Amino acid sequence: MADEKKLCLSGSGITKVFGIGRQKTVAVDHVDFNFYEGEIISIVGESGSGKTTLAKMLLGLISSTEGDIYFLGQKRDISSQKKKQEYWKNIQAIFQDPFSSYNIFNKIDSVLLDCIHMRGGRKLPYAKKVELMSEACSFVNLKFEELTNKYPFELSGGQMQRLMIARIFLLKPKILLADEPTSMIDACSRATILDMLMQLRDETGMTLIFITHDIGLAYFVSDSVYIMEHGKFVESGTADEVILHPKEVYTQRLINDVPKIYEEWDLSTV
Ligand SMILES: Nc1ncnc2c1ncn2[C@@H]1O[C@H](COP(=O)(O)OP(=O)(O)O)[C@@H](O)[C@H]1O
Ligand SMILES: [Mg+2]
Repeated sequence: MADEKKLCLSGSGITKVFGIGRQKTVAVDHVDFNFYEGEIISIVGESGSGKTTLAKMLLGLISSTEGDIYFLGQKRDISSQKKKQEYWKNIQAIFQDPFSSYNIFNKIDSVLLDCIHMRGGRKLPYAKKVELMSEACSFVNLKFEELTNKYPFELSGGQMQRLMIARIFLLKPKILLADEPTSMIDACSRATILDMLMQLRDETGMTLIFITHDIGLAYFVSDSVYIMEHGKFVESGTADEVILHPKEVYTQRLINDVPKIYEEWDLSTV
């Protein structure tokens, strides 16, 4: 099994320093990682540990101060806008605050149409596009007919999150990065969102990277866990290794903060 695993995204010495002199913040400090195809990874750490900064570097939204990122074994090249667009077909994200993820002046059908166009479907007949958009909406239990002509801000937080997953359904990226995707919504929609992401992962074989402060979630969903403290990965391994047999005091503390690690994410009770 182990020798079948193919590297999807890896990094060595990834570092991000904001500011200079006394204002300097080392947000991400020489992290190394190997994420494999089809794997579910969680990056866990307290607020301010550098998770979102790392996510933005993985996405190519901000540059790194030091270090190299490899995509499918090749050094990532996003030096031109065209190469960036190409890279973004492979890696997509859903963020904590779904409201920040949309251009509020774009109607929902244009949000979804953009996804079809990104996947090379610009020349498809309109009826076929509607069929694809409807399929994506029904995957996340939204009705496309009710959404056309609406703006994202007319949806509830939970509906917005589901719309983001509908986008992923259309885009079918190799890697999906989910930065605290469930922290803005209630427990019930949280379970639904997770369920949808896992189903999408099973269907597409994508690599799923969860970024979270919730070690209970990490244990529930992941193959591999990376623990982040002050910009560094202090511990990593399989979910069982890291969470059932933590070596670091910091990891133990994160675990002790979650008294009901096994119960909280039991989707079967929802
Ligand atoms: N654009 C920025 N400019 C300066 N400092 C930043 C910026 N973004 C993040 N930081 C700092 O980097 C550190 C890590 O932040 P962040 O990556 O958002 O952590 P997390 O997502 O784990 O809460 C924090 O100290 C934060 O204040
Ligand atoms: Mg964050």
